Amino acid sequence: MSSLATSILAGFKGRRSIYSLSNESPISDERIEEILSEVIKNMPSGFNTQGTRMVVLLKEEHQKLWDIAHEVASATVPAEQFETLYRNRIAGFRAGYGTVLFYEDPAVFKPLEAKMPMLIDKFPEWSDHASGMSQLAVWTLLEAEGLGCSLQHYNPMIDARVSEQWKVPKEWKSKSQLVFGKPNGPPREKTSQPLSSRLFVHGK
Ligand SMILES: Cc1cc2nc3c(=O)[nH]c(=O)nc-3n(C[C@H](O)[C@H](O)[C@H](O)COP(=O)(O)O)c2cc1C
Repeated sequence: MSSLATSILAGFKGRRSIYSLSNESPISDERIEEILSEVIKNMPSGFNTQGTRMVVLLKEEHQKLWDIAHEVASATVPAEQFETLYRNRIAGFRAGYGTVLFYEDPAVFKPLEAKMPMLIDKFPEWSDHASGMSQLAVWTLLEAEGLGCSLQHYNPMIDARVSEQWKVPKEWKSKSQLVFGKPNGPPREKTSQPLSSRLFVHGK
């Protein structure tokens, strides 16, 4: 394996979900922005449509996001469920340093609709695939820089408030929120399913 492939693989192996975070960052805000910019510029997309959008919230803006999530969840989720499933988790995310909000702009596929009507129902799926690629890249790179991250899905619950607060176009499809901060400890233990039921090689 080339040394580049070995380094990339080490990055993937190092990417884990880390939930206990503090509100510090081992890297500068400029470096965080640079990583997001490079991911946006370099990830593939169906027909090179480049529909991935990111909004990054740092420090007080990040805290505002999780205050909104607390407010919305406490107002909409049954009280008992809020206590068991939401209150502490949201407080844990708020304790971090920042959040990347991932969106996809469906408008990028509009010009293709007339040209390729037989593929119209595939466009949302490809948009999801492209988003997943960017999410993985950002997650892996931020953790390679010493941050801890976890991937959250408080959409659609928070979408309207977020859109209003940070002027995010309502047409963009909200996909996920990647919370990050300085890890307070290692990730949890993880078990792996046997490879024999997951990977099939023919013609070796
Ligand atoms: C598509 C997708 C959705 C996920 N959604 C959530 C989520 O909403 N909340 C959460 O805490 N983790 C979420 N995760 C993280 C997974 O639970 C986690 O990646 C998995 O348990 C493996 O652990 P690891 O990330 O430490 O390798 C998601 C991961 C993926 C790929």
